[in-house]
Amino acid sequence: MKPNTTLSVSILSGKGGVGKTNFALNLGYCMFKGNHPLLLMDCDLGLANLDVLLGIAPDKNLMDILDAGAEAGDVAVQLEKGGFDFIPAATGLPELVELDEEMRATLLNKLSSAFSAYDFLFMDLGAGITPTVMNFAAMSQMRVVIVTPEPTSLTDGYALIKVLNTEYGITDFQVVVNMVESKSEEKQTFSRLSAACEKFLGFGVSFLGSVRQDKTVAEAVRRQTPLMKMAPQSPAAQDIFAIARKLKAMRDDMLPELQDKPVLAPLLREDLD
Ligand SMILES: Nc1ncnc2c1ncn2[C@@H]1O[C@H](COP(=O)(O)OP(=O)(O)OP(=O)(O)O)[C@@H](O)[C@H]1O
Ligand SMILES: [Mg+2]
Repeated sequence: MKPNTTLSVSILSGKGGVGKTNFALNLGYCMFKGNHPLLLMDCDLGLANLDVLLGIAPDKNLMDILDAGAEAGDVAVQLEKGGFDFIPAATGLPELVELDEEMRATLLNKLSSAFSAYDFLFMDLGAGITPTVMNFAAMSQMRVVIVTPEPTSLTDGYALIKVLNTEYGITDFQVVVNMVESKSEEKQTFSRLSAACEKFLGFGVSFLGSVRQDKTVAEAVRRQTPLMKMAPQSPAAQDIFAIARKLKAMRDDMLPELQDKPVLAPLLREDLD
């Protein structure tokens, strides 16, 4: 088997509306610009957002793969030539869709081979502690938890980390503090979360970076264009560039250990037993 070189990253938050989807899209765009082919997957089953941010209306989505036998190649949308592809999720499904065991098996079988062309797989998840979120988070090689300085975002972020730890034994989390007004706010927010994890769960979390509160983000949303493309010099875009650089270096360091790992692992719980 060809050694794996794809790093899968799930993008999570306890509280909704903290900036996951915007972050996933713009970080993805940075990777592509830095010559790292990337697949962005909307894993917010039923309440997809990425297609709206991109201003596209795809006719197939992830549910066609999970439910209806479509292949990854039929569903993936090319966002930019040369390595920025996107797998949409369904929008506004009437029933609540959760990733079950059968879908998980289909996902692993059908998508795993499609991943090998990419350096990164970014999975944009819905907020909260749903079975789908837990599943995707546990299958990915890296988890990025987004919080904002709001106390409710911090407590919900902590709750998410706690559940992933107790259910799956996961202890490695990368934290991004979004919408910060100042460096001191960034520091305070991160150290509160990390201190709570250390005190009550017995491990610390890692600081991946912060993104400033920036009106340009909303402007990019209105124009349905990635911020990095519309305003690469804006404060939030600069912060996301810095995080992308760090993540690239992390992947380089991780390449030896990624080699023998599948892009998406069967649930970690099995490893624990
Ligand atoms: N750094 C930032 N500065 C200012 N506004 C931001 C920033 N990041 C995100 N936002 C705004 O926050 C809102 C929510 O963003 P987004 O949809 O990415 O959040 P989400 O976490 O994906 O939400 P959901 O949980 O509903 O999926 C958007 O209106 C966006 O413009
Ligand atoms: Mg979202």
